[in-house]
Amino acid sequence: MFKDISSGFVSVIILGLVITLASVPPEVEARAFFVFGDSLVDNGNNNYLATTARADAPPYGIDYPTHRATGRFSNGFNIPDLISQAIGSEPTLPYLSPQLRGEKLLVGANFASAGIGILNDTGIQFLNIIRIGRQLQFFQQYQQRVSALVGAEQAQRLVNQALVLITLGGNDFVNNYYLVPISARSRQFALPDYVVYLISEYRKILVRVYELGARRVLVTGTGPLGCVPAERAMRSRNGECAAELQTAAGLFNPRLVQMLLELNREIGSDVFIAANAYDLNMDFVTNPRAYGFVTSQVACCGQGRFNGIGLCTIASNLCPNRDIFAFWDPFHPTERANRIIVSTIVTGSTKYMNPMNLSTIMALDSLV
Ligand SMILES: *[C@@H]1O[C@H](CO)[C@@H](O)[C@H](O)[C@H]1NC(C)=O
Ligand SMILES: *[C@@H]1O[C@H](CO)[C@@H](O)[C@H](O)[C@H]1NC(C)=O
Repeated sequence: MFKDISSGFVSVIILGLVITLASVPPEVEARAFFVFGDSLVDNGNNNYLATTARADAPPYGIDYPTHRATGRFSNGFNIPDLISQAIGSEPTLPYLSPQLRGEKLLVGANFASAGIGILNDTGIQFLNIIRIGRQLQFFQQYQQRVSALVGAEQAQRLVNQALVLITLGGNDFVNNYYLVPISARSRQFALPDYVVYLISEYRKILVRVYELGARRVLVTGTGPLGCVPAERAMRSRNGECAAELQTAAGLFNPRLVQMLLELNREIGSDVFIAANAYDLNMDFVTNPRAYGFVTSQVACCGQGRFNGIGLCTIASNLCPNRDIFAFWDPFHPTERANRIIVSTIVTGSTKYMNPMNLSTIMALDSLV
């Protein structure tokens, strides 16, 4: 009888706990997520800008839950969406979205803008895009807005405990150095010197991200730039990966990893995590069939050679089954390829994630 009373008492306490936990808004509990970078991670900021770098018309978004174009450069989910899912958070809203206010701010925000690079002169042909310096100013402005909502201390904690993703560099080659045969940057720098310059500028950006409070930052290098359908179409004789862009990615990525590890040593903590986008993509690019793709050479949506010429529009060729194509448009992976990339970010070995993968990060940070 005593036993019954005490167990009843315990269950009252447990019930009380459950009620207390349930009354905390879930947004506060999940980890915030911030995204900076280019079209690989933009989820709609460019919809609000007068730019030609946009993905807000069909068939973009054809496999998204709403089947509508959202500004993501994908047939469905993009890499940030899948990372949000992996960490148990709602998808972040684009910073420029009018819906990003009140409690929604606590989920985080996506500041990325298609077309931008490390350098300010990258992507100038797209006119009005949010360069990285401006993305970081918006991050500061965001923090002021969150402070007004939950107080400065809570806002600081939210940022310190957040996960950050930054994806830059591809456009500094594709939409700058190699944009035209004899670009201003290629006259100024030999390729190895350009890479050194990019890394030194990227370092300043990352130091700023740290100063703004970020403490866990996934940094992706550039993918196999020469292997995207656009470059195979424009630069290669027989459809092989275009050599000069492959060389560029091959120089850039190892130096990026080295720079990140140096930064971590200086800070005395594993703040920056290198995600090896080259290898993350190259596995399914070189061996598409092993991953259930019929091709990694031909884009699902496009026209001309490898469907790699021009933009993906309603007038383009469109493949009926997006799950068997590695590339959605001439430059960007399909949702299915993004899933492979993100699952490796979550559980991959040090070959892909240095010094550790996202599941290790989540386990470590949950102990704090
Ligand atoms: C890019 O522009 C920003 C803002 O105008 C400036 O602070 C920064 O130094 C520039 N970066 C480079 C590499 O010139
Ligand atoms: C990555 O994740 C898996 C678990 O999913 C773990 O076994 C492995 O050791 C991790 N690797 C690194 C380098 O953190």
